[in-house]
Amino acid sequence: MTDDAKKRAAEAALEEVRDGMTLGLGTGSTAVHFVRLVGERGFDVRGVPSSDDTAALAQEVGIELAVPDETTRIDLAVDGADEVDPDGHLIKGGGGALLREKIVAQAAERFVIIADASKRVTQLGAFPLPVEIERFGWGLTVRALREALAAAGQEGAELTLRPAKGGSGFALTDGGNYIVDARLGRIHDPAALDAALTMVPGVVTTGLFIGLADRIIYGTETGTENQDVR
Ligand code: A5P
Repeated sequence: MTDDAKKRAAEAALEEVRDGMTLGLGTGSTAVHFVRLVGERGFDVRGVPSSDDTAALAQEVGIELAVPDETTRIDLAVDGADEVDPDGHLIKGGGGALLREKIVAQAAERFVIIADASKRVTQLGAFPLPVEIERFGWGLTVRALREALAAAGQEGAELTLRPAKGGSGFALTDGGNYIVDARLGRIHDPAALDAALTMVPGVVTTGLFIGLADRIIYGTETGTENQDVR
């Protein structure tokens, strides 16, 4: 059922797609539906993928890829999320693509989130917050993260260096970095926490997407619901 809901949200996002657009293409199981649908419907668009996996899928379904430069206008980016709060702030990065996703979302003229309704929360933080960090000195960065979390009033967080899927060692992002998953329970002030963690040397970015989403489309059991942020 959840997968049907994800697909409904992805279908609804197609209404925002026009021929000639450059699209930011998200990563994750919901974004997969969107990318496949864009390919199947034969839109004349170019895609800026937010991960190697999405780049491969886009090529498979016939979407031309753009290599962005300073002049590139991304008309619309569509991506999934792990949690969405009432202000439209997000936790992303469960799939490990947070940095490229944030670069694309930040650059896009419009950023639309597609998600099943279970992603809607009253307060962020039940989902462990992904923090992408530089590999060099990762232990020092984890210690500094603990201190920054405590200073931000988020004491007692359990931090885990994300393990590699089905293998030994640690997961690497497409950019070759590690991810720390921070179990916080509740995030009291998402914007302040994002700013504080981003200040830690060694932190590349956090999975907090603050003030970036314009619309969230939730897929439900029967249809879709929109949350417009601005
Ligand atoms: C990828 O790094 C993530 O940000 C995903 O967009 C997020 O985890 C949502 O994934 P699903 O659509 O698979 O739930």
